[in-house]
Amino acid sequence: MQSIDVPLGPRSYVIHIGNAAPGQLGLAIGSFSPPPSKAIVIYDAEVKLIAEKTAKELGFEPAKVCMIDVPSGEESKSIRYLEYLWKNLLQFGVDRKGIIVAVGGGVIGDLAGFAAATWNRGIRFIQVPTTLLAMVDSSVGGKTGINLPEAKNVIGSFWQPSLVWADIANLATLPTREFRSGLAEVVKYGIILDADFFEYLENHADAILARDTSALTEVIRRSCLLKARVVAEDEWETTGRRAILNYGHTFGHAIESLTEYGTLLHGEAVSIGMSMAGHLAASLQRWPDHSLDQQNQLLERFGLPTRIMAGIQKHLTADRMIQAMMHDKKNTYGKLNLILPNRIGEVQTVSDATIDLVRKTISHHLAL
Ligand SMILES: NC(=O)c1ccc[n+]([C@@H]2O[C@H](COP(=O)([O-])OP(=O)(O)OC[C@H]3O[C@@H](n4cnc5c(N)ncnc54)[C@H](O)[C@@H]3O)[C@@H](O)[C@H]2O)c1
Ligand SMILES: [Zn+2]
Repeated sequence: MQSIDVPLGPRSYVIHIGNAAPGQLGLAIGSFSPPPSKAIVIYDAEVKLIAEKTAKELGFEPAKVCMIDVPSGEESKSIRYLEYLWKNLLQFGVDRKGIIVAVGGGVIGDLAGFAAATWNRGIRFIQVPTTLLAMVDSSVGGKTGINLPEAKNVIGSFWQPSLVWADIANLATLPTREFRSGLAEVVKYGIILDADFFEYLENHADAILARDTSALTEVIRRSCLLKARVVAEDEWETTGRRAILNYGHTFGHAIESLTEYGTLLHGEAVSIGMSMAGHLAASLQRWPDHSLDQQNQLLERFGLPTRIMAGIQKHLTADRMIQAMMHDKKNTYGKLNLILPNRIGEVQTVSDATIDLVRKTISHHLAL
């Protein structure tokens, strides 16, 4: 496996990426100090087999491993399931040396990570991501938390994992649509930080879509490297640097919140959002039309939408979108702050896009 360091001083950790050989995970955990007293594997019920395989690989005596399953879906990122986890941790007698192992996509990583952050004032946890989105994004950076019925991700904390274990073999059962959704975040990294990576994606699109191991390892490795760099520069999201990871997300979150969660996958909404942000940047002559075309061609090659489909247009009028966007947490003092590209590989926070221009951009994205 390949490894990447996330340099955060005493909270530093390693991300392992590739096809894991038997015994490798146990070896990595074997170096933890102090040695974990027991492991609690919290997993998405959909990936039971992966969770069982992972549990065997931890290198613990079977009596020191507990398994807790959580139903698949965003609804599990709730106070109800957090309480369910806390009660199980109590029942299993998990002390401060216990370690949580989160096996699943971003939902499980966020929920189990937050359980780790809050149990006994914080215990260690390991991310074993099983979706592409979790491998390239949510498992790295330490954002953990749950939703309120009215608002996503409003309860949470920064709590870094002790290890991220991205075993490509665990993606084998991931549905195509989920896989493609994860690719939206991958394209995002190319646009915001790395023109060379963007070119790699263009040149290897077929191998990536075919889930070729070496192409996937490279995609995840470079994505994690870029995310780790941004997180190391702004761990607590205080300098504004980390906000560049939200490219396409102000539009994307508005689309998600107006279409009922689940209609579009997160990456699909972000893909339309990147097309909107890119279009707005072109209107402001911040970057050329051909760069916007290049971005959108790659998104479309990955099977991602760059227009608002007819079926959801009635929920996404320009006025509703703008209203939802004004609620975005990046907006200070009622001003619309957007991350817009200067060129492929570089973005900037911009606050001078007029509402009128934003409205034109949204209208432009209504598919005929
Ligand atoms: N913490 C962060 O920094 C961060 C960043 C981005 C997103 N997120 C959060 O991540 C969540 C989205 O993550 P996600 O896209 O991974 O969604 P998810 O966890 O809901 O997984 C998507 C679907 O794939 C299924 N699945 C997972 N692994 C599978 C596998 N190997 N085979 C077959 N099915 C599998 C799940 O059961 C689910 O139905 C959101 O809650 C979002 O808020 C967090
Ligand atoms: Zn995202």
